[in-house]
Amino acid sequence: MRIGPYVLPSPVVLAPMAGVTDRPFRILCRKLGAGLAASEMLTSDTRLWNTSKSRLRMSHEGEPEPRVVQLAGADPVALAQAARLNVDQGAQIIDLNMGCPAKKVCGKLCGSALLKDESLVARILGTVVGAVNVPVTLKIRTGWDREHRNGVSIARLAERCGIQALAVHGRTRTDFYDGAVEYETIRDIKSAVRIPVLANGDINAPQKAREVLDFTGADGVMIGRASHGAPWIFRSVNTFLGSENADAALSRTEVRDIILTHLDSLYAFYGEENGVRIARKHLGWYCEQCFQDPVQVRRDLMGAASTAAQFALAGKHFDEWVLQAAQAA
Ligand SMILES: Cc1cc2nc3c(=O)[nH]c(=O)nc-3n(C[C@H](O)[C@H](O)[C@H](O)COP(=O)(O)O)c2cc1C
Repeated sequence: MRIGPYVLPSPVVLAPMAGVTDRPFRILCRKLGAGLAASEMLTSDTRLWNTSKSRLRMSHEGEPEPRVVQLAGADPVALAQAARLNVDQGAQIIDLNMGCPAKKVCGKLCGSALLKDESLVARILGTVVGAVNVPVTLKIRTGWDREHRNGVSIARLAERCGIQALAVHGRTRTDFYDGAVEYETIRDIKSAVRIPVLANGDINAPQKAREVLDFTGADGVMIGRASHGAPWIFRSVNTFLGSENADAALSRTEVRDIILTHLDSLYAFYGEENGVRIARKHLGWYCEQCFQDPVQVRRDLMGAASTAAQFALAGKHFDEWVLQAAQAA
């Protein structure tokens, strides 16, 4: 799959997720086979960039190319200015968020709320595409609600405005995360445009990725929640798509090492206090993925109050988990 000058190493990409796809997680997923990994969304209101949260969201050190920054906003001029500033700081692709279901992001209707107003969508897309010399991509839902599924119309509009790839979460805005994903609408969108389309929504296993690609004809798949506690899903899907019989299973030793390296990178990125806090979320997910009965281990890990204590406890529990498998073999 190609976006502008960039040929992606894999058509399986990480979905942007606020609070999850920080720089350490993006780098980890890219290492484990994600073809692309967009940043958490950044508001187009530059007055809000002076917080440590926004500054961290704009950091790309050590990130493999192409570096994608996702912007959220509703004002074409502010979005264009934000896009230019991010390109100056190293963004190589600008992704626009029209998929987020939150009513208001940064005090204004934006995200998927914009899908209701096609003329505003056209102004936003045209202005941002004209403002930067890097590819601009778009993430949408299938429409506003089930009575207003205008995904096909928005996709055609996006192509006309110069958008170079489209990710489609196969639900309407009012569906939030409920109900079945409309892969049919994604298929309709794919057949309506020539730009690459990424299918998104509930793809949680290699077989599912294959089925969705076959059904929709999409150029690639975008995976969000299934990467929580399982960043290796990208490797599994890549292997499966390459050869149906391939075995992509990682050994427990490899999994433990990935988890501990992830912790280290979170501590380095966020520092002591926030490092422990953010790592808790990922550790909770890793526990669910790895342990048959995660409750006790989880409780133990959640109680650690410093990076050193948390790292030592994680090392102990995941070492034991590796040993159990070795002893059972
Ligand atoms: C915690 C979380 C945060 C999210 N944040 C964003 C975001 O910042 N920008 C965006 O376009 N979508 C965001 N999404 C939506 C995802 O990118 C994706 O479209 C959605 O989760 C469906 O894919 P999945 O079923 O593979 O998780 C978020 C989803 C979750 C679960």
